Amino acid sequence: MTEVDEFAAETADYDITPLLQPFRIRHLELRNRFVMPGMQRWWCVDGAPDHRMVEYYRRRVLGGAALIISESCTVDHPSATKNPTFARMSPETREAWRACVAGVHEAGGAMFMQLWHQGGVNYGGDAEVNPEFVALSPSGLSAPGQPFGRAATEADLSSLKRAYVQGALDAMEVGADGVELHCAHGFLLDQFLWPQTNLRTDRYGGPAITDRATFVAELTEAVRAATGPDFVISVRISQWKESDYDARIVDEPDQLGQLVRLLRSAGADIFHMSARRFWTPEWEGSDLGLAGWAKSFTDAAVIGVGSVGLDVDVMASLNGGEGRATGASRIDELVRRFQRGDFDLISVGRSQIGDPEWVAKMTDHRIPDIRAFRAGDIALGDDVMSA
Ligand SMILES: Cc1cc2nc3c(=O)[nH]c(=O)nc-3n(C[C@H](O)[C@H](O)[C@H](O)COP(=O)(O)O)c2cc1C
Repeated sequence: MTEVDEFAAETADYDITPLLQPFRIRHLELRNRFVMPGMQRWWCVDGAPDHRMVEYYRRRVLGGAALIISESCTVDHPSATKNPTFARMSPETREAWRACVAGVHEAGGAMFMQLWHQGGVNYGGDAEVNPEFVALSPSGLSAPGQPFGRAATEADLSSLKRAYVQGALDAMEVGADGVELHCAHGFLLDQFLWPQTNLRTDRYGGPAITDRATFVAELTEAVRAATGPDFVISVRISQWKESDYDARIVDEPDQLGQLVRLLRSAGADIFHMSARRFWTPEWEGSDLGLAGWAKSFTDAAVIGVGSVGLDVDVMASLNGGEGRATGASRIDELVRRFQRGDFDLISVGRSQIGDPEWVAKMTDHRIPDIRAFRAGDIALGDDVMSA
């Protein structure tokens, strides 16, 4: 019997009801604690979601999710990406996003648009689509020691800020309940937070996390000022990067506290703490994960995430590794952490790709009916992801 089987047997009588309580953030009432996090599906045409995506998001709400976060959607800036299969928020794509949001609302859910810029990350395909494309990043690096594109000037940063603000206004205009600023996984905003990719000596860089977070804080403030008091702003943060699973933006809890407090005072309502496994302790001496640590420093809402319902992590899946659905396994641990106050909401990614009714089936104890997520559900072409 594997560790997972043993755990599943122990938790056959799991109780998920604590996660079914509603939750309020500003004006927004979520009917339970389950979130579908941003996940690119590579179905966009010239940045616009096609008809499949309307149905895809709507079905996850009908299947139980309270909040849908769109796949990473680039801001309308020439340096954001030139890959046409990546989602974009721009005047040309607004109507298509409006249809996605309307579908989610009709089904009884809420939706945020995730605003993204790939920064210096060297995704394959860009150069082929547009040879003029120049990647912008804090210090002209794709990853530590790997030059790509160029460092953003102060003028670039001003225009990037305007693009994020416009993206947030567009999200509001299409009816979204909020935005999520993608500051994770090694992309533009995370490249500011990561000391190895932010070598700047101006006010956007420096040894302290509060120095390196200056651009993210200014952006959050600008989005808050433009969108007013009712719009929800989530900030997604990770330690790990697609290019380096052991990377760190902060070495100690106190530094995480400084980051969370800075962004909270800039206007963030939610911290979506991206970890590959929700149960992994972030620092020795405590079993708190990244979400639990963030929550210990803030009155803002916190979203946890990481391998709920699966025995392999996201990057193993993205690299084609096959895992198994774990059914009830670790659900007790998830609920224990939730009831302890480690997080307010929980993201379930791949499990909800695998089965749009994952939340409903878990709620109704219909585990044998769950369609297990398979790596083939998200098969990637090499041309899409080379980082
Ligand atoms: C196919 C795929 C695409 C993803 N795209 C994004 C994305 O656009 N934005 C983002 O913040 N995270 C993205 N992620 C990470 C997920 O949001 C989530 O953090 C990760 O899958 C871990 O959750 P899980 O273990 O429940 O799947 C993606 C993950 C997958 C599997």
